[in-house]
Amino acid sequence: MARESLGLAIMQNPLFSAVYERAWRPVFTRLFSLGGSSTADVDKALTAYLARPGDRLVLDVACGPGNYTRRIASGLTGDGRCIGIDFAESMLARAARTPTDRTSYLRADAHEIPFADDTFDSVVCLAALYLIPDPLPVLDELVRVTNPGGEVVVFTSVATDLTSLPGVREATCLSGYRIFGRHEIVERLSAAGLEDVEQTITGMGQYVLGIKPAADA
Ligand SMILES: C[S@@+](CC[C@H](N)C(=O)[O-])C[C@H]1O[C@@H](n2cnc3c(N)ncnc32)[C@H](O)[C@@H]1O
Repeated sequence: MARESLGLAIMQNPLFSAVYERAWRPVFTRLFSLGGSSTADVDKALTAYLARPGDRLVLDVACGPGNYTRRIASGLTGDGRCIGIDFAESMLARAARTPTDRTSYLRADAHEIPFADDTFDSVVCLAALYLIPDPLPVLDELVRVTNPGGEVVVFTSVATDLTSLPGVREATCLSGYRIFGRHEIVERLSAAGLEDVEQTITGMGQYVLGIKPAADA
């Protein structure tokens, strides 16, 4: 079972899930782009990363109320589906309020993703890793359930000049939010077997994308 932190406890509160989409996520998205360059529009950059029409099966890990699950699903074709997993019932209840033909949701812990190895064409974990007390093993799980030839996309926090100001890192950690070192995510995903790992930093946020080598590579 996942371990608790203050940030996680807040996330699981039904009141929080009610304000998440309209208030918290947009504000946090802006905060993430603080100190960033022209790529400050985090959502736009993210959408570009997720634009993989034709993907058959996508997993959205820690999907929250499903805003990205739906967005990813809307880009799929054929029998493509996007499955969202999250361990907060209130978030999943919110997600279930906007069903689509291409989305399904499941309550699960990101540390123990309840799917077999090599199942998904793409696996994403967006704006969640920094809340998870033991986040690096989750990256191994993302890679495990990805098909050979498939991609893993992570969006999370990253250390910047701003976060190195006195007290900022400590205050953030106290509240249960983790700021990852510049190379931490890239190194763990590479160690887990991903190739062509790319990192794009937008202010205090980073996108990391990597490909699981094809079986005959
Ligand atoms: C900030 S929300 C992000 C939701 C969504 N991915 C987005 O980008 O809008 C973080 C989510 O991570 C979920 N979460 C945190 N730890 C988790 C874990 N160990 N397993 C599954 N979900 C988790 C929380 O319940 C919450 O819904």
